[in-house]
Amino acid sequence: MNIPSRVTVYVLADDLAGLNNPFIAQHGASYWLSLDYRGKKISILFDTGAYPGPIVENITRFGLDPHTIDYVILSHNHYDHTGGLLGVLERIDHVVPVIAPSSLARTSINVGRRLRIINAPYFPAKFLDEIIARKGYPLLIDEPVKIADGVWTTGVFDHCSVNNESFFIDNGRLVPDMLCDEIALVIDLGEHGLVVTGCAHPGIDRIVEKASTIIGKRIKYVLGGLHMVDLEEHRVRETAEKLMKHGVEKIYPGHCTGLEAEYILKKTYGENCQVLRVGMNITFS
Ligand SMILES: [Fe+2]
Ligand SMILES: [Fe+2]
Repeated sequence: MNIPSRVTVYVLADDLAGLNNPFIAQHGASYWLSLDYRGKKISILFDTGAYPGPIVENITRFGLDPHTIDYVILSHNHYDHTGGLLGVLERIDHVVPVIAPSSLARTSINVGRRLRIINAPYFPAKFLDEIIARKGYPLLIDEPVKIADGVWTTGVFDHCSVNNESFFIDNGRLVPDMLCDEIALVIDLGEHGLVVTGCAHPGIDRIVEKASTIIGKRIKYVLGGLHMVDLEEHRVRETAEKLMKHGVEKIYPGHCTGLEAEYILKKTYGENCQVLRVGMNITFS
């Protein structure tokens, strides 16, 4: 089968920059994936951070060309993954598929400490029009879908745990948002797979399990936001152990994983845990 021989992930947005880093950090996730099919390349932009400015600047600093983006994938509708989309689309001179869960066009609020709008920073019905006006072609798909040879989205998840703080607004009703409406990307590298996540709200162990079923191979690498900011220490350890049981050898946590969880993951995974920073690039094969 024709599968990518190499995949390079460029970190365009992460909450961390580190010392003397010329790249610009922001709260959010955005990764540029360059997939090499023995000479022929495909570029995927996975998530777009909260603001376009730093993304566009970081694309330039990497020496990448936005016109070469073939696909945009949005993991879920949260503002810190979708806010930069329109500004990036303005730099692309051709029609580009924008693949996202159907909840992209819904309003999400969080009522934790105070009411906050947490979906993309545009009124949802208008958001799709704004995407189309910038030559984006929204493909709202909740099922796993093949993007290219060896490259799939996982589709959204069922039966997530109850969340009392997040809601969709649906015809005047507050519908609990279980944060299941998130897709990840899985890439078949031949012997094993790579999973890229936005926030991993459905749980990274469940995402890895589903991704592994989709490509029929072990997931060796996991990269992205793992949303462990609110998890107790023992739950972080348990998750790390589950990932090890699934055969995940190397993890690259970033964004909403949280500093404390990253420290615990680092202690569990040792050198095989590399915390993401904006401006990093990592090649997988
Ligand atoms: Fe996030
Ligand atoms: Fe999120």
